[in-house]
Amino acid sequence: MSLQPARPRWPLVTLRVTAALVALLALAQPFLAGGLLQGFYTLLDAHEMAAMILGTAVVLAVAAALLVWRLGGSPGTFAVRYTVLLVLCVAQISLGFSRVLILHIPLGVGIFVMAEKFAADVFRHRPGTEPTTAPGAETAASTEPAGVQA
Ligand code: HEM
Repeated sequence: MSLQPARPRWPLVTLRVTAALVALLALAQPFLAGGLLQGFYTLLDAHEMAAMILGTAVVLAVAAALLVWRLGGSPGTFAVRYTVLLVLCVAQISLGFSRVLILHIPLGVGIFVMAEKFAADVFRHRPGTEPTTAPGAETAASTEPAGVQA
């Protein structure tokens, strides 16, 4: 029987909700931008509004990731990742308003890839394991025959 107090689960649930929101908004942004470039100019407002909601969602994801780390007992990897994403989103919004598209579009692709990968890792994460443990890596010790483990 474990004597350790049970870790609260709500921080991870909160992180999953915010990570999913970030992933969805990062997915929507290229579509809104594509529609804009195709001539649907009203989508510029939608792109701007989605950028603000995305930035807010990333702030919430940082807060949730900090809670997962401090209260949930998981490593701080998610907090570091979403902090990096937050810095990139601030840069992206600034590049968007200044119309520096030569950097804005590649960075937008990078933000999209990161948001989807981070969300996938958050949903795969099981408390008590490293966030990015490769499939099978965690079984290496457990597959040793009894008595052979160091
Ligand atoms: C692959 C993804 C993206 C593409 C292709 C893209 C493309 C564009 C384009 C074409 C514009 C209009 C520039 C102009 O009016 O001359 C723009 C503006 C802007 N973008 Fe993006 N974008 C992307 C992702 C993002 C993301 C992820 C954010 C936020 C984090 C963002 C924030 C903005 C902002 C704030 C503006 C200025 C809006 C305004 O002036 O009202 N974009 N983007």
